Amino acid sequence: MGIRKENKEKGIDKYSSKLLYLSAILVVSGLLALIFILDFATSFSKTESFASFDQMKYDKEAERLSKMEELDSYWKVPEIYLIKDSAYKQQVIYGQELIMHTSRYLGPNGSVENLSNGMNCQNCHLDGGTKIWGNNYAGVASTYPKVRARSGQMEGIEKRVNDCFERSLNGRALKDDSKEMKSIVAYIKFLGKHVAKDSVPQGTGIYDLPFLSRAADPSKGAGVYTNLCASCHGASGEGMMAQNQLEYTYPPLWGPNSYNSGAGLFRLSRLAGYVKYNMPYGASSLNPQISDEDAWDVAAFINSQPRPSKDISKDWPKIAKKPIDHPFGPFSDGFTEIQHKFGPFGPIAAEKKKKK
Ligand code: HEC
Ligand code: HEC
Repeated sequence: MGIRKENKEKGIDKYSSKLLYLSAILVVSGLLALIFILDFATSFSKTESFASFDQMKYDKEAERLSKMEELDSYWKVPEIYLIKDSAYKQQVIYGQELIMHTSRYLGPNGSVENLSNGMNCQNCHLDGGTKIWGNNYAGVASTYPKVRARSGQMEGIEKRVNDCFERSLNGRALKDDSKEMKSIVAYIKFLGKHVAKDSVPQGTGIYDLPFLSRAADPSKGAGVYTNLCASCHGASGEGMMAQNQLEYTYPPLWGPNSYNSGAGLFRLSRLAGYVKYNMPYGASSLNPQISDEDAWDVAAFINSQPRPSKDISKDWPKIAKKPIDHPFGPFSDGFTEIQHKFGPFGPIAAEKKKKK
């Protein structure tokens, strides 16, 4: 009995140890399976997220390419090197040089004449007047001569160029029959030679930034200026001269050497639209670096600083034709000078539309 019991106990022992062994194997293999499944699942989800990351990169690139394609349809800048007539080519090249480095020839220390403030046309008409939304000359050859509301007169390209000499470069007019004026006009006409008469390609001039619903705020703009602009244009907007003392590395934004109160940039929409797609330097319509609000506010700040003034009492002989952001009265509507300078522009535009 004792032996049987012993055997029986041994049998049970044997049996239970086998069971234990088996369940251990089961547990281990179960764990292994679990690890395998988990690993598979995470690696699967990893490839998933790789795929969507790739998709994102792909989408971004596709967007960039389609934007570029759109830009491609905007305006094609003709190539100077393809000009065959060598005298004409020389003239166009000199015109381009005068746009890019105006001050070397016509500035305070200019080699030809001293009639402008040290700025270059290119400071505002970027890349020699060829940059999309960089205040380019795409629409000049096709639309001039024309009657301009500012003067109330028929104007040729020469008159328009001299407007910028007298206002944007706070200087004197260049003679229409000078070699310099003829070359500038030849260059500008060359740039627009493929643009159909009276048409203006997409991306011409300065971008019309949507209005804010509030007035632009110079005090907010002061903060934007410190953060995004002062590093190049200086704490007092004075800019920085190049080492040769002939032109600016960073042009001034206000003060005695800047554009005067009769200049296009003194209108807030022109300055804000210029800044939106061109500043800080390197920004473009493909790669803007400032919000609409900041662009309006920094423009309000810059155009609240001191600058040379210009007698513009003869401008806008028909008051009703003044642009809504022309900052000087009298006006044909009931809005104040302050509102015409800083906005909100929506209500002024709406009333102007009603009157038409
Ligand atoms: C301080 C900035 C600034 C400088 C410097 C400047 N311009 Fe301008 N220019 C403007 C602005 C702003 C406009 C008007 C753009 C608009 O109304 O959308 C303009 C308009 C023009 C236009 C008419 C463009 C059009 O499509 O009707 C011509 C031509 C022109 N400028 C030539 C020149 C020349 C040549 C120089 C150099 C002698 C020069 N500008 C220097 C700011 C400047
Ligand atoms: C990295 C340097 C840099 C920064 C930052 C920068 N700019 Fe400019 N800016 C330039 C240069 C360079 C030019 C002239 C471009 C040329 O001649 O080709 C210029 C031209 C201008 C002009 C037209 C010329 C003039 O003097 O009136 C304005 C307006 C302007 N910048 C405004 C701004 C504003 C507003 C900011 C900040 C939002 C800003 N810039 C930030 C380098 C800079």
